[in-house]
Amino acid sequence: MIADRRGFILDNTRLQHPPHTPEIALHLADEVTPLWKLTEEELGEMGVPPPFWAFAWAGGQALARYLLDHPHEVAGKSVVDFAAGSGLVGVAAMKAGAADVLCADIDGFCAAAVELNAQANGVVLGFTDTNLLDSPPPPVGLIAAGDICYEGPLAEQVLAWLRVARDNGTRVLIGDPGRTYFPKDGLEKLAEYQVPTTRELEDFAVKRTGVWAMPA
Ligand SMILES: C[S@@+](CC[C@H](N)C(=O)[O-])C[C@H]1O[C@@H](n2cnc3c(N)ncnc32)[C@H](O)[C@@H]1O
Repeated sequence: MIADRRGFILDNTRLQHPPHTPEIALHLADEVTPLWKLTEEELGEMGVPPPFWAFAWAGGQALARYLLDHPHEVAGKSVVDFAAGSGLVGVAAMKAGAADVLCADIDGFCAAAVELNAQANGVVLGFTDTNLLDSPPPPVGLIAAGDICYEGPLAEQVLAWLRVARDNGTRVLIGDPGRTYFPKDGLEKLAEYQVPTTRELEDFAVKRTGVWAMPA
């Protein structure tokens, strides 16, 4: 069992700047497989989820870039970074002027990862590991979701939940590099980027990645 998740993250990552958001520093891993194996060994469990929190995913990098360059999207708002992973999108929202950010992720490592990454950037981020999909969306100004369409049932559930948020008046933004379960209809493309990523995770070293809004 990993008692000290913060120590585990510090031992197995290094402070890096995601290529598409160089102004942000994150504790990231270079290779997925050794870290994943180590996580399973240390937890004494097989079948644990991949260490998503140790990478800056293309969808998150694009969404973070968009928020940094369009601060009016977050200025003075309460923001939820849904499926936060490292907390990259949340860090960008705080740097761009959000009033507060709640990072939400069901992976037990994310609490420590988000805390370390908030500290590395001199911002404060809230965190919850509650599955927000089990309840109506919180009444915040913006929900930002980076790279959430990589599994069919999850994508379907998240998108339905985000539509409820949108119908309640929350601005909803999604960053996505054209994942299999990303819906092609019903969203408004706000920006497109060529996001450098890692061949550790992706089929291409650069992923064309969009930032999309759910139109009100
Ligand atoms: C591909 S990663 C994206 C992380 C980050 N947003 C980024 O773009 O770098 C997907 C994340 O979704 C999280 N996730 C999956 N189901 C979730 C749920 N029901 N609620 C919150 N997070 C969830 C996973 O734990 C993982 O951290």
